Amino acid sequence: MNRRETGSASSITKCLFPVAGLGTRFLPATKEIAKEMLPLVDRPIIAYGVDEALSAGCREMVMITGRTKKSIEDYFDRSYELEELLKARNKKTLYEKVIALSELGDFIYLRQHSPLGLGHAVLCGEPVCRNEYFGVILPDDVMIAEPSVLSQLLAVHEERGGSVLALEEVPREETSRYGIVVGTEVAPGVYSISDMVEKPAPEDAPSTLAIMGRYILSPAIFPILARQKPGAGGEIQLTDGVRTLLSEEPVWGVVYNGRRFDCGTQQGWLSANIRLAMENPLLREVVRQAIIEE
Ligand code: G1P
Repeated sequence: MNRRETGSASSITKCLFPVAGLGTRFLPATKEIAKEMLPLVDRPIIAYGVDEALSAGCREMVMITGRTKKSIEDYFDRSYELEELLKARNKKTLYEKVIALSELGDFIYLRQHSPLGLGHAVLCGEPVCRNEYFGVILPDDVMIAEPSVLSQLLAVHEERGGSVLALEEVPREETSRYGIVVGTEVAPGVYSISDMVEKPAPEDAPSTLAIMGRYILSPAIFPILARQKPGAGGEIQLTDGVRTLLSEEPVWGVVYNGRRFDCGTQQGWLSANIRLAMENPLLREVVRQAIIEE
């Protein structure tokens, strides 16, 4: 059961989605449409992230967008031609589904004009998020969990205060793909973080606990990010900003319960589609047959 169903108030109301990335790994599919709009079984990737934010009680979705991202705005807006057509054809269930998309919450769009990194993308959300703790969802990491991963982070924030990051153990050879933390376990799966480094080489990684794409962040991150110099890959890194935050406020890490589908690469996205379709009773047989025929 989530907060929407129980009606309980959430201590965070805003969730930021960095969606300005160009999706070059999916070209040419993403030449004119946002990579976050690629379908994952029956819905675009971004819809999974928005559902997760809603489940944690967020009502304001702050999208940090760029060029070619208009399709995201349109998806969460009314579509009068489509609605009229569905009404005229008596497709009541579909009509209601389409209307519901525009009533999920308030959507706020801010532009990231230059691709300067994840830390810079979060900084672009300052005008809306500067006064309170807020969630961050990197929609490429699709999380299937109950309760949702953002809700798991929120529970730790509500109990202990401070910022909270989602963590996962990764094989040492993969540390250079993630932010890696150093921490002390203070409760099962909950870490008090003392240091972190963005994308270290396996031989330099201080641990194998990696940051996954979910955060609850203190607004104190904004002045830090505004001063942040470029780090790994020449980009303004969120990990470097949170590292500085460590000297001001507590930061916790939570090894979440749930499954992650990396939809940031063609291979990961394709595999997520097949695996999730196999779990859908209406589609399982279709996938099985398609694979057998080859
Ligand atoms: C970003 C973060 C990194 C984190 C990762 C999770 O990296 O910078 O710390 O571990 O997301 O997916 P990116 O995947 O944008 O390179």
